[in-house]
Amino acid sequence: MKIGDTIWKWVDSRAHISDIPLRGMPEYALNVTYWTGAFLGAAFVYLVATGMFLLFYYRPGETTAYASTQYIMTQVPYGNLIFTSHQYMAYAMIFVVFVHFFRNYYLGIYKKPREVSWIIGILMSIVVITMGFTGYFLPYTEISVDATNVGIGLAKFIPTIGPLLASITFGNGTVASEFSRLLALHVVILPAILFILFGLHMYLFEQHEIAPPPGVEENAGKKSIPWFPVYLAYSAAVSFLLWGAVLIWSALKPLHLGPPAGSAIPVVPISEWYLAAYQKVVDFSPISKNVDYLLLGLIIFLLAVPFLDRNKSRAMRDRPFFIAIGTTNLIYLIIYTAWEYLQPGKNVAPIIWAPIMFGILGINLLIAYIFHFRYKKIGKSEEVPPA
Ligand code: HEM
Repeated sequence: MKIGDTIWKWVDSRAHISDIPLRGMPEYALNVTYWTGAFLGAAFVYLVATGMFLLFYYRPGETTAYASTQYIMTQVPYGNLIFTSHQYMAYAMIFVVFVHFFRNYYLGIYKKPREVSWIIGILMSIVVITMGFTGYFLPYTEISVDATNVGIGLAKFIPTIGPLLASITFGNGTVASEFSRLLALHVVILPAILFILFGLHMYLFEQHEIAPPPGVEENAGKKSIPWFPVYLAYSAAVSFLLWGAVLIWSALKPLHLGPPAGSAIPVVPISEWYLAAYQKVVDFSPISKNVDYLLLGLIIFLLAVPFLDRNKSRAMRDRPFFIAIGTTNLIYLIIYTAWEYLQPGKNVAPIIWAPIMFGILGINLLIAYIFHFRYKKIGKSEEVPPA
């Protein structure tokens, strides 16, 4: 018997891991379109592990933050790889959150019985984006401080609670309080909230079979793959794929710190890519000051979507309104992000943004309803006439 088997048998005889009654997976789940959740779990683990390592050396503070980050990147063995991969993994996680979100949206996975999984997912995505934002400040470079100031400005626009939220998040205006608040949020408070939400997300996931592809019935008695050891090994392999890709990317394109804060070297005040679309809408006059109402409206719509989309069918052709709204937002996200990078901070008059915004919405509604009615017609003509 191999030594690995012997060790495993010993561990299992004491910990009874293989007896943990977790649900098996249907065969259709062994498919790349089902990988996004595993990627997100793997990214979270990686960020916590590398974040702990960075905390060994990082020293918050106006005079120490930049120098200690520079020290990690130039003096600590593998420090650059760990710092770079921490940042790239955060980017990857945010990107995959968008993919996971749109996948579940288009496939209607928010419908019964997964409404609460969906709502928790929305809350998790807000936490993940806020974690990225709070971490960006910590190296204290010119650009990271400028980007954080953009965020402070946006937070203050939030109706009623904005100024309070800004003072809780960023402190009393001194650099020292900004460091302590943002560090506490980034390394303790937000990860703890994410951990709890993730636990709930997984608990609910365990209660239902993984959502079948469209057209396949729930719990259709598909052949089940045991969670242990096959599905666990499969998920580990998917996780290693992400870790490997990010490590290779980090080795090929290591990060270099920009100029330190206060160095008066001009930098373009552009936020991180995942907030760039939002920043572009801030440039749309005269809605700039009301942009947080738009964001709030979008979040409320997303939280309510499982209750608004009453159609029992998950097929896209049966949900034209929701498909049009989803696609419109996806297109806004891509176009506005590119636009912000091409013309950062440039004011946009209503004569330009209004036709673009409403045009994209109109075209999407038109296409989605054409497909919906065409499909209905075809469905009818294919019906077998009564004998
Ligand atoms: C940090 C963020 C997130 C993590 C770590 C996470 C993780 C996971 C994992 C591991 C699964 C199970 C495997 C799978 O179906 O892929 C899952 C399922 C699910 N997630 Fe997420 N997720 C996150 C964000 C979201 C978001 C933003 C949404 C949508 C708003 C969402 C909605 C769902 C739903 C509805 C399921 C059930 C899927 C099914 O039963 O097939 N999640 N998530």
